Amino acid sequence: MHAVAHIELNAVDLALDLIARFADPEAAGVMLPDAFFDDWLAVADDEARHFLMVTGRLAALDAAYGDLPAHDGLWQAAEATTGDLLARLAVVPLVFEARGLDVTPGMIRTLEADGDDESAAILRVIYQDEIGHVAAGHRWFLAVAAMRGVDPVATWQALVRAHVPRAVKPPFNTPARDQAGLSRDYYLPLVAPGTDPSSQVPPT
Ligand SMILES: [Fe+2]
Ligand SMILES: [Fe+2]
Repeated sequence: MHAVAHIELNAVDLALDLIARFADPEAAGVMLPDAFFDDWLAVADDEARHFLMVTGRLAALDAAYGDLPAHDGLWQAAEATTGDLLARLAVVPLVFEARGLDVTPGMIRTLEADGDDESAAILRVIYQDEIGHVAAGHRWFLAVAAMRGVDPVATWQALVRAHVPRAVKPPFNTPARDQAGLSRDYYLPLVAPGTDPSSQVPPT
């Protein structure tokens, strides 16, 4: 739950960074409509709510955000994509948040098996909201790719190979990814040889 709190806090910053950094049409390379900013502000609001739910649960468990070291991978990927809106959208919502859809069902099962139904219930709320975040990421990735006149699938694969080549790995949560619009033709070609791309996470 401490690791989740860290991810949620980073996610607040990342959603707001997308707004602040790419409000300048020169930085974005395109003129983004108001709906872009509305969507990412709503995502930032969700992420703040997630952070507060998780830190509330940590407090009930006599813990606090900051008690443990945290992983910096998400922020490093964000820094690697500061110069390119399309790369940022390819990596943050469509690799890392999509990966969250793959791993969260297993975390929920582990917590429930351990008798921590309160934490599991929080992760169920986060899981549902995150499907919407991946969907927003995909919607805007498609829109910006269209504005730039590039093929979305080939461009996504090139950007992911350039920035986070080993981050796409099975088992996948295909139903949740499909619900967000992230179809298999995007990510299956990036699965490393020797791993089974059809491997699926069991449903929650
Ligand atoms: Fe979140
Ligand atoms: Fe999110």
